[in-house]
Amino acid sequence: MTNAITADLTDQVVVITGGSRGIGFAAAQALGKLGATIVIVSRDLENSSSATRQLVSQGIDADSICLDVSDGEAVRTALSGHPIASRADVLINSAGVMSEKMAKTLRTSDQEWHRVMSINLDGTFNMIAAIGPQMAARKSGRIINVSACLGRFTGPGLAGGLAPYRISKTAVNALTKNLAAELGNGTRGVLVDAMCPNHTRTDMGGPDAPRSAEEAADTIVWLVTREHDAQTLTGLLWEDRQIVPW
Ligand SMILES: NC(=O)c1ccc[n+]([C@@H]2O[C@H](COP(=O)([O-])OP(=O)(O)OC[C@H]3O[C@@H](n4cnc5c(N)ncnc54)[C@H](OP(=O)(O)O)[C@@H]3O)[C@@H](O)[C@H]2O)c1
Repeated sequence: MTNAITADLTDQVVVITGGSRGIGFAAAQALGKLGATIVIVSRDLENSSSATRQLVSQGIDADSICLDVSDGEAVRTALSGHPIASRADVLINSAGVMSEKMAKTLRTSDQEWHRVMSINLDGTFNMIAAIGPQMAARKSGRIINVSACLGRFTGPGLAGGLAPYRISKTAVNALTKNLAAELGNGTRGVLVDAMCPNHTRTDMGGPDAPRSAEEAADTIVWLVTREHDAQTLTGLLWEDRQIVPW
């Protein structure tokens, strides 16, 4: 059983891609209840509007932007012109898609490869490129990339199959570690981390997965709210609030 999180996030702006459903929505709800202003980014207008209405009905200050994260120019335009999102304190990249079940490397079409990479990897980069520079300039911010254990070089990762998905998440891990190093591994005010939610009951994970979206979102909420001082470890992969090997 993990400790309940009681931080006060009033005045914090949290941008969450994939916040319209699943793990992203659970994180949005938990962080909104701690007082954060939530900006949901997702592709489907109906999903993002309905998620925002649900948050607002719970007293959460929430807005949404309907956007395909794989479209770099659209991301830049929407975020630089948005009065709240442009001053994000926290960016959570949860938007993602699974690859086709039979997508072994030698059976993956160009189209399938690019579909998954462009959302899972380019989408993460596009959001960081739009929001990260302001965080670096302010010397304050947190970036949390929702990765997957399937993308690890160790444990359950890279065991074959689901090639575009696994490899996109391996690359998200690499992006995380590299960016954290570029930003001084926390010494210049910005924390950059990746996390594995584990197999979760969402549209992606299916109804038989062992975890709820709320359980999966716990490590995200913990990464957003943990103390940041000279000892804080960042540029890492986290699972259940613990560091796991890449
Ligand atoms: N569920 C699991 O078992 C599991 C396990 C390990 C890792 N993960 C990772 O956790 C993250 C969240 O997964 P989930 O299970 O919550 O998935 P989900 O329920 O299928 O939700 C996916 C979210 O991503 C958004 N999205 C997809 N493509 C997008 C795009 N091009 N632009 C903007 N938004 C887009 C969707 O928005 P729309 O409403 O617009 O479609 C939706 O909000 C993913 O990165 C996934 O890889 C999940």
